[in-house]
Amino acid sequence: MLILSVVLALLTAVRGSVTVYGVTPTTAAASANYTGSAAYDTTVLNAPEVPSPAPATQFTLALNTASSSVNGLSIAQSGTFLGFSVEFSVINQVLGINSSFLQVPFLNLMASLKQRAGAVYIRVGGNSQETATLVASLASGKMIEKDNVDTSNPTETPTLDFTPEVLYMLANISALVNAKWYLGIPLNDSSNLRLGIAEVGESVLGDNLLGFQVGNEPDLYADHGHRPSTYSPYDYFGEFGVVVAALNADNGVPTRPVSNLIGPSVATGDWTPEMVWNTGFVSSYSSSLGALAVEHYPDNNCAAQFNTGGAVIDPQTVFSNYLNHTSGKNIISPYLNSSAFALANGKPFLMFETNTASCGGFPGVSDSFGSALWMADYALQMAYSNFSGALLHVGGQDDYYNPFTPPPTNQSSYHQWTIGPIFYATLVVAEAFGTSGKSQIIDLGANSDSIYTPAYAIYENGVPARVALFNYITDATGANDMTVTISIGGSGLGESNGTPSQVQVKYLAAPSVAEKYNITWAGQTYGDNFESDGRLQGSESIQTISCDTNANTCQIPVPAPGLALVFLSSDALSEVSPSTTQTFATTSVTKTANTATVPASVLATSNGHSGSTWRLSSTSKESSGVSAMMMPSMGVLGALVFGTIILGRTMYC
Ligand SMILES: *[C@@H]1O[C@H](CO)[C@@H](O)[C@H](O)[C@H]1NC(C)=O
Ligand SMILES: *[C@@H]1O[C@H](CO)[C@@H](O)[C@H](O)[C@H]1NC(C)=O
Ligand SMILES: *[C@@H]1O[C@H](CO)[C@@H](O)[C@H](O)[C@H]1NC(C)=O
Ligand SMILES: *[C@@H]1O[C@H](CO)[C@@H](O)[C@H](O)[C@H]1NC(C)=O
Ligand SMILES: *[C@@H]1O[C@H](CO)[C@@H](O)[C@H](O)[C@H]1NC(C)=O
Ligand SMILES: *[C@@H]1O[C@H](CO)[C@@H](O)[C@H](O)[C@H]1NC(C)=O
Ligand SMILES: *[C@@H]1O[C@H](CO)[C@@H](O)[C@H](O)[C@H]1NC(C)=O
Ligand SMILES: *[C@@H]1O[C@H](CO)[C@@H](O)[C@H](O)[C@H]1NC(C)=O
Ligand SMILES: *[C@@H]1O[C@H](CO)[C@@H](O)[C@H](O)[C@H]1NC(C)=O
Repeated sequence: MLILSVVLALLTAVRGSVTVYGVTPTTAAASANYTGSAAYDTTVLNAPEVPSPAPATQFTLALNTASSSVNGLSIAQSGTFLGFSVEFSVINQVLGINSSFLQVPFLNLMASLKQRAGAVYIRVGGNSQETATLVASLASGKMIEKDNVDTSNPTETPTLDFTPEVLYMLANISALVNAKWYLGIPLNDSSNLRLGIAEVGESVLGDNLLGFQVGNEPDLYADHGHRPSTYSPYDYFGEFGVVVAALNADNGVPTRPVSNLIGPSVATGDWTPEMVWNTGFVSSYSSSLGALAVEHYPDNNCAAQFNTGGAVIDPQTVFSNYLNHTSGKNIISPYLNSSAFALANGKPFLMFETNTASCGGFPGVSDSFGSALWMADYALQMAYSNFSGALLHVGGQDDYYNPFTPPPTNQSSYHQWTIGPIFYATLVVAEAFGTSGKSQIIDLGANSDSIYTPAYAIYENGVPARVALFNYITDATGANDMTVTISIGGSGLGESNGTPSQVQVKYLAAPSVAEKYNITWAGQTYGDNFESDGRLQGSESIQTISCDTNANTCQIPVPAPGLALVFLSSDALSEVSPSTTQTFATTSVTKTANTATVPASVLATSNGHSGSTWRLSSTSKESSGVSAMMMPSMGVLGALVFGTIILGRTMYC
């Protein structure tokens, strides 16, 4: 956990850049309060011992000068590869209350990904999509209302009603941060199809709609009690056909015949994907299918979280399972045949929902720096294995694994958001692939394939652009810090020397894989629990490393633990480094209002909006001493917003 002096040092550093906070020590102390919910759990595990023998700390990676000489490069990938899966039942906490009241920290987080990847892909769904029903309005005036908890489901997902306002909210988020959405068609009961989400979803979202999942983990339907125990891949095949026919017959669905459905999204619990492929699923529904998908968590914490029986797992005993390169490879190996099958059938293959462990993850594991290294490695491994995308699941207060968590509702007036370590992996992956959509990745089998020091090369537009270097070992002595020599081309490869005169490096750094808060990406951080408005804080620090062009080598230090993303050209860096930073002002206003208002005129000129006033929610404690102005970085919207709001507790609109 950050100690106070560090917080102040950080704030001082921040003052040097564009954002000015006047935060008193009270706020920092309050930030440290543990509310009791899993999302703020303070468990810190022990980092695994340094392995014996330890892997070599120096090794060379020889890259070809052109992708045409490289065997085994992936299909083309994009910086949107790693997105989010937001459980439907928590969208009113995570995304916004309605279309005109959006969560500013969420917008800021998504904007930082948009700046790196051009867009961000988000799925709204999960178990809660299956019982969701679109209704014209709710008596409460809310856009979403949870009913009775379905106790037969170990993830205790509520059934819910929602209004078209949800879709307007998504559209408005898209307009601000170029979010693209995956939605789900409820399938708890295929004799009572509720297609409203398809009708209104496509009408409202248009091109910002990526597709509709039909069935979430159908292999668990029998376990969840809404199908008989005999429910089989053939039954799912039949029900998928019922949905296709119903959509194609539905005059309310704008584009028919439908071609954007996603299935089978098996959890690979009771069924393998092949069991579904072997029903003829892809050939039968090819024209309706936009993508094929699976969902998987490598472990589960259900016994501890939901008392489902079986042994409660001690997080310390599983921590090392996430701290080596075998983990991601093992998770993916059951899907390699399916990714090849999808490619052969011309369909993208998606990991539609994943995270460290189902039923909320493990304390100290899912919310550790190790989880960030793990997720980055696992995502890059999926990309190398010809998946076309993966969605990191976001749950609620009771989950350890969230990439981001809004404060509990009754604390939202004074606490800010908590950004989980695993969120940093999304920044790394976005920057690894960039915006061109022409990045291809290869696992280099680095350091004699050491499981502790994996490395990947990313070729973009046919030439080496970036290298990702991992070190999973925690060793404060420095004895396991590595120096990796990168060379491009050269006589050894029968090519002319291709090493640039210098490279630039961004580090994902923390003192230990067990660390929860002191985590930086290129020197910037989201800080401790309850500390984030969704903007990276501190000055960005990018290392420039001179190479030896005669020897054709660049020597890159990688700390233990840590991840280095090496940019092999200035273009490779500038592509993922926007010249302006789009941020959304968070503000401190009176507790009753607790909102920053962005006038419609501002939005009308910033992102093509017109119409109503948008109220952007905020999460600063009015009495916390956040008294100085908060200047948004000078992005298009930010600059405009700055002209209209906020000094201290007064709102100027
Ligand atoms: C934090 O915890 C301390 C000690 O329990 C308590 O006095 C203080 O009011 C709490 N602060 C907040 C903001 O909850
Ligand atoms: C949106 O939510 C805010 C905050 O609860 C509320 O003040 C506003 O009336 C809502 N707008 C609509 C259109 O429901
Ligand atoms: C944003 O939300 C408002 C209020 O619902 C709506 O009038 C407006 O059309 C929305 N904008 C978009 C782009 O959907
Ligand atoms: C499916 O969900 C709807 C809406 O929540 C509910 O009314 C219905 O009873 C559910 N059907 C089954 C078979 O669980
Ligand atoms: C790969 O998947 C295809 C399609 O389901 C199947 O026919 C084939 O047997 C699978 N191969 C392996 C090795 O599992
Ligand atoms: C590496 O990870 C794998 C897969 O999670 C695990 O089975 C194995 O025990 C780990 N190896 C070590 C040495 O920790
Ligand atoms: C991914 O697809 C490319 C292009 O078809 C192929 O060359 C490569 O071997 C595939 N990778 C894997 C791991 O199957
Ligand atoms: C917030 O709500 C939770 C759950 O309802 C409750 O346990 C807690 O005491 C409340 N905290 C405050 C500060 O009101
Ligand atoms: C935070 O982590 C960095 C390494 O990433 C370390 O140098 C620094 O001392 C740590 N700060 C604290 C307060 O632990």
